Amino acid sequence: MAVNHPFMHIKTRLFGIRRIWRPLAVGCRHLHRTSAAMADKKLFTPGPLGTSETVKQAMLRDLGSRDLEFISIIKKIRAGLLDAAGVSSADFTVVPMQGSGTFAVESVFQTACNRENSQVLCISSGAYGARLGRICEVMGLRHQVLSFPEDGSVDPARVEAALRANPSTTMVAIVHCETSSGIINDVITVGKTVKAIIPDCDVFVDGMSSFGAVPLDVGAGQVDYLVSSANKCLQGVPGFAYIIARLSKLQKCKGNSRSLSLDAYDQWDNLERTSQFRFTPPTHTMLAFSQAMEEFQLEGGVQGRAARYKENCTVLKAGMREIGFKEFLAPHHDGYIITSFCFPKHKNFNFNTFYTKLNERDQVIYPGKVLNAECFRIGNIGHLFPADVRHLLGCIQEVCKEMDIPLPITE
Ligand SMILES: Cc1ncc(COP(=O)(O)O)c(C=O)c1O
Repeated sequence: MAVNHPFMHIKTRLFGIRRIWRPLAVGCRHLHRTSAAMADKKLFTPGPLGTSETVKQAMLRDLGSRDLEFISIIKKIRAGLLDAAGVSSADFTVVPMQGSGTFAVESVFQTACNRENSQVLCISSGAYGARLGRICEVMGLRHQVLSFPEDGSVDPARVEAALRANPSTTMVAIVHCETSSGIINDVITVGKTVKAIIPDCDVFVDGMSSFGAVPLDVGAGQVDYLVSSANKCLQGVPGFAYIIARLSKLQKCKGNSRSLSLDAYDQWDNLERTSQFRFTPPTHTMLAFSQAMEEFQLEGGVQGRAARYKENCTVLKAGMREIGFKEFLAPHHDGYIITSFCFPKHKNFNFNTFYTKLNERDQVIYPGKVLNAECFRIGNIGHLFPADVRHLLGCIQEVCKEMDIPLPITE
């Protein structure tokens, strides 16, 4: 039989408190330890990219998809993107699409290319141009890939010749900044060339890594579809991409898509009619993006962002040259989004060691993506400033010394 000790209830209470308190205290200690250990890395990559503290903070709220505040945020984002593109709502609309950038690229092909007579010309001067062709191939879309060397930009004269040889082309797809090398393609001349030869042909620009930081006159280039994603130059967090579409084109796309979720016509139509996404919207990501757009405006929009990224790039190239690294592209290619550097020939250079030692210092660079040369890449975009680039250069010097590579590198 249990005996009730007079102090039993006090003891039980104390045990109860301890039972709650102990895990709480351990939890807090753990939280403290992990938050100290979880400092942001500096991302000198093509993506994911670093974001400001305030952008990350803006995500820390739950909002329902039917909440009026969320609906007005979607409207604000769509209008802000038209503004950033320098186009009006009379001619263009914005279709946000859940997923990474490739989802929006695929969505444009699905939506704009009908099942009967579509014929796409994919222009490729690197991995992302090649991916345009790969998407068409997987979709079973009739297409041709016009390839250019990875260390040069697209030659509009060859585009013209390809179109004259195939006047039934219905879409030309081109990448603005070929992020695999860093080269910027002249999409305006290509767009003008396309419309001069085949006026009805769609001009589709993958502006993933350039939109918001490399000026592009959508009107002059007669662009019909332009895509980018939340975590590129507008500096939101990853989770959705967007299509800036010419209304007169998009309105004719009903029923083209062979994919339900990637149907940009349906997504647009539903947003216009109900102010709702068709499927779970990326609410937190959009809250962050709304804050990111305010910060984009405060920095001076496209011009302001271009100025900072250019400065990052100037500091980077000068510092890397001083250390002895050589750029993959010739100096007259003046892209400032990302820079590819050739592996030095020194026997002690090993990219994995170089990468790991920089990573241990919280500096994240990226492997190369060009096929014909051994390169690595350093990005200038996202929440990065010249002081960050200078710090990275210091770390690179330290790492080279640790790897027994004498500076400046001469081989
Ligand atoms: C030009 C270009 N196109 C497409 C993509 C693919 O985007 P995601 O990896 O977000 O799908 C990228 C990614 O960096 C890119 O730079």
